[in-house]
Amino acid sequence: MKKSLTGFVCLGVAAVLTMSGCGKSDDVLVVGTNAAFPPFEYVGGVNGDEIKGFDIDLAEQIAKDAGKTLKIENIKFDSLIVALNSGKIDMIASGMTITPERQANVDFSTAYYEATQVVLVNQDNDSITSVDDLKDKHIAVQLGSTGDLMAKKLSNKVTAFNTGFEAVMELKNSKVDLVLFDSEPAASFLKKNPQLKMIELDFTPEFYGLAVAKGNTELLNSINQTLQTMKQNGQYDALVAKHMK
Ligand code: ARG
Repeated sequence: MKKSLTGFVCLGVAAVLTMSGCGKSDDVLVVGTNAAFPPFEYVGGVNGDEIKGFDIDLAEQIAKDAGKTLKIENIKFDSLIVALNSGKIDMIASGMTITPERQANVDFSTAYYEATQVVLVNQDNDSITSVDDLKDKHIAVQLGSTGDLMAKKLSNKVTAFNTGFEAVMELKNSKVDLVLFDSEPAASFLKKNPQLKMIELDFTPEFYGLAVAKGNTELLNSINQTLQTMKQNGQYDALVAKHMK
């Protein structure tokens, strides 16, 4: 009886030790993303369960230069900043647009990609030629995205989904008039959905940045250094060629 009790206590101690070892290690760079945003991040690969994309390749190089192993956490887009600020992740790589509102909560790297919002509609929809035409339309967006914020300023019929995929599905089922989404992922969705078309309107450019917790200058400097080197040595252009076709 005594013996088994001791064994039990040891097991408990071992469990506590292991658990404390489960926290974030200094050797690992934990990167948060929302992998429903091709070609920046998506679930794919040979077995269909890998997280891949432009941002993932960037993160891979950033981790390597910082002497760390990369770990990717796939989370809801509108939970990324909370995850960063609670210490669950070290960096956000998720096609995240640098905005003043977000800058109040996180520190962004130098911009690494220029994008813009575009409109996706069903092929037979010829009712949109200007931003003004979006006014009374039912718009589908990704929750918490810049498209979401913009749509709410343009129309009072906005439905937000956790992913762009779901927004596109809603459009294909003619439940909404249009999807407002970032240009590259929209082009990627279009390739798989020939019944849709893309309309480019006069929207202001947006710039994607990688984000770290406020004050994490060590990581931020390392990220910016990697970005600069990749832009200088051709690695950045090679990534664009690989992912944006
Ligand atoms: N650029 C937009 C934003 O910052 C959308 C980004 C969505 N990214 C994603 N991985 N789902 O709001």
